[in-house]
Amino acid sequence: MQSRFITFEGGEGAGKSSNMAFVADWLRARGVEVVCSREPGGTELAEQIRELLLAPAQGEMSDGAELLLIFAARAQHLAEKIQPALAAGSWVLCDRFTDATYAYQGGGRGLSVDKIRRLEQLVQGDLRPDLTLLLDLPVAVGMQRAGKRGDLDRIEQQSLDFFERIRTTYLQRAADAPERIAVVDASCELVAVQQQLQRVLEQRWALWEKEK
Ligand SMILES: Nc1ncnc2c1ncn2[C@@H]1O[C@H](COP(=O)(O)OP(=O)(O)OP(=O)(O)O)[C@@H](O)[C@H]1O
Ligand SMILES: [Mg+2]
Repeated sequence: MQSRFITFEGGEGAGKSSNMAFVADWLRARGVEVVCSREPGGTELAEQIRELLLAPAQGEMSDGAELLLIFAARAQHLAEKIQPALAAGSWVLCDRFTDATYAYQGGGRGLSVDKIRRLEQLVQGDLRPDLTLLLDLPVAVGMQRAGKRGDLDRIEQQSLDFFERIRTTYLQRAADAPERIAVVDASCELVAVQQQLQRVLEQRWALWEKEK
């Protein structure tokens, strides 16, 4: 089957990391070669940019600089890892991608959608995820889950309102692109989340098999 690019999105503590491992196993059990990655990051240079973006001691970073650093990391990640993996026939699973930029820098920071769209086109050309799994849950629940892991990074220190705008933006994007973005209720226990993911995957797998 043709290689596919699947992204995981959602707010803080939504279960992206936990569920990406589940999806990777599900695909490997079907004989798929899987490469897992994350954004910002995924390569040495991009991980260094991630550190710049998340360091709590960073002081004032302008919204524009933040946006460009994210796309710089993405350009490197695409060139060095994602595109070569897809070209070699592997499937790529990525913990956050450009929907996160629309949600955090667009919805959260208030940068214009048009600015993000132009950078997306510049950096990605026509490459878009084949499937995006949006793990949706109330902000407070995600915060509580994420908070269990100690100190908050620069992004996690934002207000609740910031995260509400992120959730709203994600859900709006899913409503606008239902053929690509599947919304999964991530507020329930992990096995119930995984049952939903499995249903989405089975559906997609059947479609992709027809296209292969
Ligand atoms: N459905 C669930 N029910 C209860 N706890 C969960 C569930 N899913 C994940 N968790 C727990 O919540 C925490 C956050 O999960 P995880 O790290 O997978 O989320 P994430 O979306 O990757 O978070 P982050 O945005 O911080 O990267 C972890 O401690 C994880 O074990
Ligand atoms: Mg995570």
